[in-house]
Amino acid sequence: MKKILLIVCLLSPIVGVQALDVDHELAYCHQQVLRALEQMKPYDYSMQPRNILSTDTHGRWNCRKASGWEWCSGFWPGILWMDYMATGDKRVKKAAEGFTQGLANILTNPIVDHDMGFLIHCSYGKGFEATGCEKYRRAILRASDSLATLFNPKVGTILSWPRHVKDYGGHNTIMDNMINLDMLLWASEHGGNPLLRDVAIIHATTTLRNHFRPDYSAYHVAVYDTLSGRFLRGMTHQGYSDSSMWARGQSWAIYGFTMMYRHTHDVIFLQQAMKVTDIYLQRLRETSNDWIPLWDMDDPRGHQGAPKDASAACVVASALLELSQFVVGEKSNRYHQVAINMLTDLSSERYQSRGRNVAFLLHSTGHHPAKSEIDASIIYADYYYLEALMRLKGLI
Ligand code: GLY
Repeated sequence: MKKILLIVCLLSPIVGVQALDVDHELAYCHQQVLRALEQMKPYDYSMQPRNILSTDTHGRWNCRKASGWEWCSGFWPGILWMDYMATGDKRVKKAAEGFTQGLANILTNPIVDHDMGFLIHCSYGKGFEATGCEKYRRAILRASDSLATLFNPKVGTILSWPRHVKDYGGHNTIMDNMINLDMLLWASEHGGNPLLRDVAIIHATTTLRNHFRPDYSAYHVAVYDTLSGRFLRGMTHQGYSDSSMWARGQSWAIYGFTMMYRHTHDVIFLQQAMKVTDIYLQRLRETSNDWIPLWDMDDPRGHQGAPKDASAACVVASALLELSQFVVGEKSNRYHQVAINMLTDLSSERYQSRGRNVAFLLHSTGHHPAKSEIDASIIYADYYYLEALMRLKGLI
């Protein structure tokens, strides 16, 4: 293996091929984690890293108080757990335990929206994977029961934003919500209420039916009549327009339907995962100069002027490493190779933060229409980047 890597490296300047050295990138992530932990001392475990803006000169994470309103609160503990699984570093484990405990208030406060899965499954879930700790399993079951209270059986989906029902004129469900289903399915498989599985499957099936245009590009928001359950319209919240392909929204669809197939083995979810992937890859080829998408594929500025979204590439790379195992032949090879290509670009000088700040990556876009976190280091990009590297290495 080492020999092959060496040969590819030697050929690189000639054939323009870059090699991805997973161990090297995992070691890089570990170094950045240690640097960040050093900067964050003394620890306030309730303050979770969120972003480092391109205008920040301090190179350290801007942290936000963990709460149900702060959807990114669970990613840092998740990163720490993954880094601990990769390295066995006891200092990182201790920090992971502390920052996971820093989320405890989310479990006891009333649920405010659908992000419970991001918050608890990406943190306690990775903690359970690393330790098998019973306390973490119970926390996930509790969070899942809480998330299920937002399910509207008439519509067949979980309500994403209770606070926006009036603004959107009905029950709103966003594509991102697919990721939260992972927690429900996991809970139903680990001693939780079996009905959680039904909720997840009905949500995914309803989403499959309504949340896509004929070419399988996704709306960000689907609005339903709360009482009749009728699909009213598809819209955007964080994308360029109601009819555009917001890169991260599409990445949630790719990840979400792949994950649904993992849990259910229902081929309808596998087919959807492939369709939403194939249109993403087609649009990526048409609009980007590398394997990292524009924040929205339909931003008319194109790659000359529109910012990128590295976080979407991280989510897709992680998903495709899984999807490539669910299909066979040429399709499997292609998804696997594309994931490597994405990770290779993400691991380059252009996208890694290296000495510039303590995040793993640069160039993600959070909420472009709100002019928020444009071309920034954002914690979820790092989370899915590390998850993809770990999947490639066979560690998770
Ligand atoms: N879930 C919100 C986002 O992807 O920005």
